[in-house]
Amino acid sequence: MQVWVIGGTQGIGAAWVQHLRDQGHTVWTGARTPESSQSLAIDLSDPDSIQSAVADVLRALPELQMVINTAGVLHWESGQPEKSLRQLQSDSALYSYQVNALGPALLAQQLWDCMRKTKGFRFASLSARVGSISDNRLGGWHSYRASKAAQNMLLKNVALELKRVNPTAVVALLHPGTVDTQLSKPFQSRVPSDKLFDVTRAAQQLNQVLMEFAPEDSGVLRDWAGQDIPF
Ligand SMILES: NC(=O)c1ccc[n+]([C@@H]2O[C@H](COP(=O)([O-])OP(=O)(O)OC[C@H]3O[C@@H](n4cnc5c(N)ncnc54)[C@H](OP(=O)(O)O)[C@@H]3O)[C@@H](O)[C@H]2O)c1
Repeated sequence: MQVWVIGGTQGIGAAWVQHLRDQGHTVWTGARTPESSQSLAIDLSDPDSIQSAVADVLRALPELQMVINTAGVLHWESGQPEKSLRQLQSDSALYSYQVNALGPALLAQQLWDCMRKTKGFRFASLSARVGSISDNRLGGWHSYRASKAAQNMLLKNVALELKRVNPTAVVALLHPGTVDTQLSKPFQSRVPSDKLFDVTRAAQQLNQVLMEFAPEDSGVLRDWAGQDIPF
């Protein structure tokens, strides 16, 4: 199978790429800084970059059957998750929205023709349990939570629209659990060791869940164990 993994150069994405290549699939990656000849430059905060990366991947992989977006941000040089409403800042909130919510939706928009025409096409994007509004009992992390909730809504919409033109396709929103990556590093101290997955285990679990997604499940948010998470 021909697969494109965005965010596939580190963290969960890199382990997922390795897992798929070990199974014999042809896998290209997408990253802000491409690291090999099978890697394309893409910045999810930049619509032009998304458009040109999709054009490039469709040239490189004419039988593309699966796209997995593992790119996402929780913290960066100038942005930290908010502990209180006082810390909410417009530029950080908008950046989170661009990368975590709008980027994946624009990606689906650019891939639309391929998703519409390809039997059994799978489009997956990593979300997070903390993006569930009904599951929110602690508050905080305003920008991250809101951007993941927005991604859930946008990709649910993509799933509904896609179902009308390609009932065999799948749009999957996935929660990986807490995984030992640079994204979760600053927040791991209270996570019990049996609840902190290494990236290899996380990639295997997510891949299994994604492969078991049926077209009638398209648009749901599902965790690493195959349990649905209500929005
Ligand atoms: N780790 C966890 O415990 C956990 C829990 C719940 C959900 N998640 C979600 O799982 C996904 C993967 O997280 P991770 O833990 O693997 O994090 P990670 O190691 O920090 O990897 C994040 C990836 O996103 C890419 N990225 C960031 N901004 C980007 C942009 N503007 N355009 C394109 N790519 C960009 C990074 O690429 P660069 O090399 O360009 O920086 C990197 O490959 C995220 O969506 C995260 O929200 C993770």
